[in-house]
Amino acid sequence: ADLVLLGPPGAGKGTQARLLQERFGLVQLSTGDLLREAVAAGTPAGRAAGEVMASGGLVSDEIVIAILRDRLAAPDTARGAIFDGFPRTAVQAEALDALLADAGRGIVAAISLEVDDAAMVERIVGRSTCAGCGEGYHDSFKRPAEPGVCDRCGGTAFKRRADDAAETVGARLTAYHAQTAPLIDHYAGQGLLSRVDAMAPIDEVTAAMAAVVETAL
Ligand code: AP5
Ligand code: ZN
Repeated sequence: ADLVLLGPPGAGKGTQARLLQERFGLVQLSTGDLLREAVAAGTPAGRAAGEVMASGGLVSDEIVIAILRDRLAAPDTARGAIFDGFPRTAVQAEALDALLADAGRGIVAAISLEVDDAAMVERIVGRSTCAGCGEGYHDSFKRPAEPGVCDRCGGTAFKRRADDAAETVGARLTAYHAQTAPLIDHYAGQGLLSRVDAMAPIDEVTAAMAAVVETAL
C-alpha cells in the first residue's frame, strides 16, 4: 500500500510520516531528505540541487524522479511507502503512477494537510531536529522534556535546516501554491483524496490520518 502526503512546507508531512510508518509498517520516503543526503554527499545531483533548495524553488523533475526511482528499488520499500514531499508537480505525479504500476502496486490514498500560510512560517522558523536520531522538535510547539536532551535517543546536538530562514520560507510557499497545490485536484479526480485539518495538535492530526489509512487499506 502506498500513501501520498500533500501539504505546504511546515504542514507536518515529515512529523506525521514518521508516526504513521511505525504504526502501519510503511517506509517514509522523503525526497527532501534524499536530496539533502545527495547535497551532503556532493554527488552530481546534489551539486545541481543545492542551490535551488537554498533559494526555496523546486529541484528539476529529472533529478528528483531519478533519486526516487533509485530509492524505490531498495527492498525495504516493497511493502509500501509514505511519499512525503513527492510528487510536487504533474510530471512527478505521472512518473510515480508509472513506477508503482511497474512494480504491481499503486496509491491507495492521498492526504492533503490543510493549514494556513502564516502559521506555516512560524512552524518552520522554530523547527530543529536531533542530530543523532532525526526526531523533530519545535521551539514553541514540541520541546524535549528535559531541555537540550532528545526524548528519543538522549542526544544533545540539534540542527536547523539552511532553507528554514524566514526569507526562504516565502519562496517555498509560493512554489507550493503554483506547482504542487494543483495535485490536490488531480488526486480528487481519481477518488483518492482526503483532506485533514493540520492546524490541530499533532496527535489529533495523526488520529485523523490513521483513520483515512485504515479505511483505504
Ligand atoms: P522538503 O524537505 O520536502 O520540505 P517541505 O515540503 O518544505 O516540508 P518541510 O519538511 O519543511 O515541512 P513538513 O511538512 O515536513 O513539516 P514538519 O513535519 O517538519 O523539501 C525541501 C526542498 O527540497 C524543497 O524546497 C525543494 O527545493 C526540494 N524538494 C523536495 N522534494 C522535491 C520534489 N519532489 N520536487 C522538487 N523539489 C523538491 O513540521 C514543521 C514543524 O512544525 C516541526 O517543528 C513540527 O514539530 C511542527 N509541527 C508539525 N505538526 C504540527 C502541529 N500539528 N501543530 C504544531 N506544530 C506542528
Ligand atoms: Zn535523538
